[in-house]
Amino acid sequence: MFAPDLIHEFVPGSSERTLLLLHGTGGNEHDLIPLGRELDPKAALLSPRGKVLENGMPRFFRRLAEGVFDLDDLKKRTHELADFVVGASRHYKLAANHIIAVGYSNGANIATSMLLLRPEILHAAILFRAMVPLVPDKLPDLSSARVWIGAGNEDPIVLTSEAQRLVQLLRSAGADVTIHLLNAGHGLTNGEIEIARDWLRTKLFPGESGNRKQKTT
Ligand code: MLT
Repeated sequence: MFAPDLIHEFVPGSSERTLLLLHGTGGNEHDLIPLGRELDPKAALLSPRGKVLENGMPRFFRRLAEGVFDLDDLKKRTHELADFVVGASRHYKLAANHIIAVGYSNGANIATSMLLLRPEILHAAILFRAMVPLVPDKLPDLSSARVWIGAGNEDPIVLTSEAQRLVQLLRSAGADVTIHLLNAGHGLTNGEIEIARDWLRTKLFPGESGNRKQKTT
């Protein structure tokens, strides 16, 4: 019996892929559902709500200050989230080897932490405004992981040097990393969603029928 300890929303899909949607600080399980559908109309969507509250705002792990993380809590919450994904995969009969994280800000940071600490969980990740959440003692083997990072050149929270540091860390673990530097701040832009969607299609399911680049108006 699946007794999830994370409140979540699940939307079935029509392919073997699942997008694990991870919201930013102050978000919830509903926030990224439209984004997930835009990125991949055929994927199942699994969207948990972070359990940590900061002044009433849900997050995926505790922080001591902006960009200063409580590493013990981060590690604990990373394993908790990974175990949730394993349980949800069994319960909803998801293909465990086709889980793609899509995280924004705090959600991107825990997705990265999961890549580093529980590399077996994620097949790929789309990380909007991510930073280096922690540096593990031993780097995992991420040679089968594909990662897309969207960074804003005017982001006051995640400096581009920090985004580049993340790229280096993931590449040194063997991941296939694409970074897109945008004229943007910390908020998401429509243009980058389209870029991330094209990357996902090209990298992960290039041969799928009906998978031509769509025009947006
Ligand atoms: C974090 O705490 O994960 C980052 O500072 C991003 C944020 O949530 O503002």
